[in-house]
Amino acid sequence: TRETPPVNLREFEPAARARLDPAHYDYFAGGAQDEITVAANEAAFRRRALVPRVLRGQGPPRLEVTVLGETASMPVLLAPTAFHRLAHPDGEFATARAAAEAGVIMIAAMLSTVTIEEIAACGPKLWFQLYIQPDLGFTTSLVRRAEDAGCRALVVTADSPALGRNERGDRNGFHDLPPGMYCANMVQKGRQGRDDEVRQVALSPDLSFRHLDWLRETTSLPIVLKGVLHPADARLAVEHGVDAIVVSNHGGRQLDTVPASLDRLPLVADAVRGQVPLLLDGGVRRGTDVVKALALGADAVAIGRPALWGLAVAGRAGVERVLTLLRNELANALTLCGAASPGDVTGDLLDGIDLK
Ligand code: FNR
Repeated sequence: TRETPPVNLREFEPAARARLDPAHYDYFAGGAQDEITVAANEAAFRRRALVPRVLRGQGPPRLEVTVLGETASMPVLLAPTAFHRLAHPDGEFATARAAAEAGVIMIAAMLSTVTIEEIAACGPKLWFQLYIQPDLGFTTSLVRRAEDAGCRALVVTADSPALGRNERGDRNGFHDLPPGMYCANMVQKGRQGRDDEVRQVALSPDLSFRHLDWLRETTSLPIVLKGVLHPADARLAVEHGVDAIVVSNHGGRQLDTVPASLDRLPLVADAVRGQVPLLLDGGVRRGTDVVKALALGADAVAIGRPALWGLAVAGRAGVERVLTLLRNELANALTLCGAASPGDVTGDLLDGIDLK
């Protein structure tokens, strides 16, 4: 029987599942413990009602935005996700080429399965996601590599002082990458005739805003803090000189039972008061979701799993298709809301009305 191609982002998930090793599918799809936050992220979008304006004569919407000085073809970035070669043999090469083709910003994960230099060579607009390592010398070398590769921002993930508890992984006994696959940025040249070694990533409970201050002194790249949900942390981040904030709960993969990132966005926006750009990720699956995030104060959003599903289904072409579908939906949603551009989306489109 012939499979019908997915017509929206959600339909990529079952198509990807059919192609993936079940343990790898679970790694991508899963979240922490009861996955309450995973479900909450999407539910938060579904609950909100849009109240469109009519007869505004705006013509077809323009989707381009500028984030931290980087122009992007739409206010949708690729969130950093680890281990793309688990989804498709072309791994991050495919993702990066799709991002380049689509003109969107790719946030390359530090835990990628090809190097940051190889990703950069594919030509996308590129930011680098960093887990600050307790070994600051090694962290500095990663930062220099990202700078030299042409990354335009560092995205520091703050919500991971420890690994979240993924019970699907426990059940599947999935704790390591298969042979031949490894975190390519973590390879250290073997000294004095020894073999190269892949360094273990350290998710450190010692990290504090002091480390952010250290990073601020270490690099002149813009610093984006990812994983903020509390308005007090957003204010601290601004005080410590971050250039942008990603409101995110790591796709529900870290602390379970935290609120949907969309539900935290208004509080963070209120705390930050336009001092730095705000991004949001977690549960974005529709053009209308993007509009809702913009209405609540985001300058752009990022998608995690949908890109992985596209990658698993058809490599580069699959990621391109995911981005094209979302772009078309966003243009349609903006038109139907009477908005001429992402910047034209105002809070009154979401007048506090909830859907059942
Ligand atoms: C992630 N995410 C993530 N974030 C990060 O800062 N560093 C990382 O290495 C990873 N790795 C990772 C792997 C996988 C399989 C997933 C699904 C997610 C989190 C990611 O950047 C983002 O916050 C969420 O994926 C957004 O939610 P959605 O779009 O997947 O619902």
